Amino acid sequence: MGLFDDSKRQNIFLNPIALDYDYQPKLILYRENQQHFIANCIKPLLNDRNGKNLFIHGKPGIGKTVATRHVLKELEENTDILPMYINCWKKNTGHKIILEICNYIDYRFTMNKSTEEIIDNISPILNKKCCVICLDEADKIDNYDIIYTLLEDVFRKTVILITNNKEWIVKLDSRIKSRLNPELMEFKPYNYDETLGILKERISYAFLPNIFSSKALELIAKKTFEIGDLRTGVYLLKECGDAAELKNKNRIEENEANEAMNKLDEFKTKNDDDLKEDLNEILMLIKNNNNKSSSELFDIYGKGSYKTFKRRLDELEKNKFISMKEVHLGAGGRQYIISYGSLKKLDEF
Ligand SMILES: Nc1ncnc2c1ncn2[C@@H]1O[C@H](COP(=O)(O)OP(=O)(O)OP(=O)(O)O)[C@@H](O)[C@H]1O
Ligand SMILES: [Mg+2]
Repeated sequence: MGLFDDSKRQNIFLNPIALDYDYQPKLILYRENQQHFIANCIKPLLNDRNGKNLFIHGKPGIGKTVATRHVLKELEENTDILPMYINCWKKNTGHKIILEICNYIDYRFTMNKSTEEIIDNISPILNKKCCVICLDEADKIDNYDIIYTLLEDVFRKTVILITNNKEWIVKLDSRIKSRLNPELMEFKPYNYDETLGILKERISYAFLPNIFSSKALELIAKKTFEIGDLRTGVYLLKECGDAAELKNKNRIEENEANEAMNKLDEFKTKNDDDLKEDLNEILMLIKNNNNKSSSELFDIYGKGSYKTFKRRLDELEKNKFISMKEVHLGAGGRQYIISYGSLKKLDEF
């Protein structure tokens, strides 16, 4: 048999895209109240009045992004209000955010213009309409002046800010806070039954009927509930599918669920005391040397190889203890500016 002979492969997936991390499910379960709350903040715009601003916070992986995007989608489909969703982890400067807004309104004359110039040009266009500007992961913006500008220059709008970090809003500049004056909404983690329900629904989108055994689902749901992050749950479903496919099985059973969970545990056991100490040391180093480049930090750290050091940085970033911004420092090539960016503690790892 050839290495790439795929002829015996059992088809288990109905739509594997439903397990992608940025998939937007049709149905957002158990977040009706939150979606109504968001809609109520936006509703005044329907009558050409200014909307209410909203600050959403809560732990990772509990539906803040999907629920908000779902509301924005309904808004787009059913009203003339212009919804704009911007992920500030990816678009982390005022300029990038403004360029995203330009994309939404199809404004193309942005070349060689400063952020201020572009804002001056697009404000009249934005002010012909009502709009909702959602800045997800808002704490990742490198300079919050852009929030101030949007609040000042756009007249009929709702600004939605989303972050994991409840304390962030407290630390915002008082000029911004007084203009923002937001409604606050916390997303609480799902209970076990809700976790199970969401995973079950996702299985029905992603897999063919009767592929996923209820025992395997139960194992994954328990683990997901324990971790409290649905993103991990969806990842585990995908790992189960991949494990079954690799064995040419047309059913996902306890074995596949355990294999998938072991992959998570591998990550966890790497978290033994040594590694934890290592990560903790690097995290403290970053805290005390905020916004330095990765190579400067590595020099201060002074141990092991840069490659291992960078891996630790990646791990801290993935788990949202820090944020990394790529920069190009001439001949030195790719570098990262590292910011201490979360209130998470290492024992939440
Ligand atoms: N109520 C739900 N119904 C369907 N899928 C959900 C629901 N809640 C969460 N999910 C799924 O869980 C994953 C994580 O959700 P989401 O991205 O909204 O989390 P978040 O709260 O924004 O997390 P973070 O703070 O890390 O950005 C996504 O794959 C999403 O589709
Ligand atoms: Mg999110």
